[in-house]
Amino acid sequence: MTGSEWWRTAVIYQIYPRSFADANGDGMGDLTGITNRLPALRALGIDAIWLSPFYTSPQNDAGYDVADYCDVDPLFGTLADFDTLQHTAHELGIRVIVDLVPNHSSSEHPWFEAALAAAEGSEERAHYIFRDGQGENGDLPPNNWDSVFGGNAWTRVTNPDGTPGQWYLHLFDTTQPDFDWDNEWVKAQFRDVLRFWLDRGADGFRVDVAHGMIKAAGLPDYTPPVAGGSMGGASTEGPGIITEWPETAPYWAQDGVHDIYRDWRLILDEYPGDRILAAEAWVDPLSHVAEWVRPDEMHQAFNFAYLETAWAGPALRRVIDDSLAAFGAVGAPSTWVLSNHDVVRHASRLALNHENLQGHGIGPTTPDLPDNVIGLHRARAASALMLALPGSSYLYQGEELGLPEVIHLPDSAREDPTWFRTNGERYGRDGCRVPLPWEAAAPSYGFGPSAESWLPQPDEWAGLARDAQVGVAGSTLELYTLALGLRREHALGLGSVEWLDGHADEIVALRNGAVTVVANTGATSVPLPAGELLLASGPLPGNTLPGDTTVWLRA
Ligand code: GLC
Repeated sequence: MTGSEWWRTAVIYQIYPRSFADANGDGMGDLTGITNRLPALRALGIDAIWLSPFYTSPQNDAGYDVADYCDVDPLFGTLADFDTLQHTAHELGIRVIVDLVPNHSSSEHPWFEAALAAAEGSEERAHYIFRDGQGENGDLPPNNWDSVFGGNAWTRVTNPDGTPGQWYLHLFDTTQPDFDWDNEWVKAQFRDVLRFWLDRGADGFRVDVAHGMIKAAGLPDYTPPVAGGSMGGASTEGPGIITEWPETAPYWAQDGVHDIYRDWRLILDEYPGDRILAAEAWVDPLSHVAEWVRPDEMHQAFNFAYLETAWAGPALRRVIDDSLAAFGAVGAPSTWVLSNHDVVRHASRLALNHENLQGHGIGPTTPDLPDNVIGLHRARAASALMLALPGSSYLYQGEELGLPEVIHLPDSAREDPTWFRTNGERYGRDGCRVPLPWEAAAPSYGFGPSAESWLPQPDEWAGLARDAQVGVAGSTLELYTLALGLRREHALGLGSVEWLDGHADEIVALRNGAVTVVANTGATSVPLPAGELLLASGPLPGNTLPGDTTVWLRA
């Protein structure tokens, strides 16, 4: 735990607690499972973990529906288990970032239950966004907003006497009512939540839906360019990418959100030890994302433009330049990310030839399913490129094993509200959330001590289990471990990008300090550039650099 501003160069590993490791054998991951497996992350060489929500929750959106912001759901353990996890991580030199979900609570949060029980116009109702319906009997929703998960963004409540009452806003599931962030009481509660985790020793927060929270006054009607709701713009270009998202959605990226983060930053700055805020803000373009990380706001924002960029030379060069310029202009590090718990895993996504909007997912009936062999080659090459870039990188659990998206999940196993709210039209995100394989020969591939696993693991995952890859030359795990070690040794996170000319368009060639990085995004082999080979994402037959392969060389 040394060094100031560690987050400027950190490699931060996302743990999805439901699916990382299960200590008690109930088929659901838990905090003790994470603690037990931390040495494997130490060996991988990451700097910090970000834990997706483990708070008290009815789990209607896998824990992003919080019923108590200051406690652990029994499904995952206890606060004491969290303390042990955090202590163990710190002992191993790994920082711990928790997930803050401030846009909405669970409908089972006592604050929302109090709002339902209270009268229209009461202070309790003012904590959320209740409105009268339109039409003669108020039986039409207050406006035309769609939920991100599909369907309407409003639900009507029933009064204690059984008559139909007001409507409340939920940008996500019905069970996730949005807070009114103009309300002072709400602001005060969340200051306390921040302090609760900071006092416990958390190193920071990943802030969920950090471009939501404030809604335009009067809640005006809005019809988005993508029917059925979306997280908003994020991208530069790529298959299925909306290149120009109109920045007019009255529920995304409203100016008022920045006042909230300035307020929170003052709280974090009271604490020693470089605590951080990292924004999940799906806004476009990158210069707009950079507003979330101005010096008095957050420390990092996810670079979703990078995640959504096609595996193609010109697009990659452009997004890398744009990222370094946009974040650099406000004195923030760029971040880089290829996968998380909301998108199709990049070992599959990079082999998709068709549109796939964030959160829509893929499944058995998706046309033109990705080729896993091509996908894995590209994923390894893309990760090797990403880990050579200056700034901070996010990894999503399992990408270091080369896990693909799980496509053939039985419908009966699916849990993502997106699947239910669209009547199966969108598969949603379950395919990237399948529990990890740790041991090829163990039940549930070592996810837990029993054969239980809340989503079924495919048979092919035996070969991808961690113990089948540790120390095996050429495995994806060894590639990541090598890349992280070299990244640290050569201080690449603190470096800079110098483009190397004289290559074909599909070749991304750059120098970062003492390391030359060459990624071939095309299909044709090119001669291997000169220099001492440090790392290769795939075989290099006959001294060539084949397509979908990245190398690092000593410059
Ligand atoms: C964020 C989370 C996602 C969740 C949503 C609502 O986008 O990453 O998993 O469903 O917010 O909380």
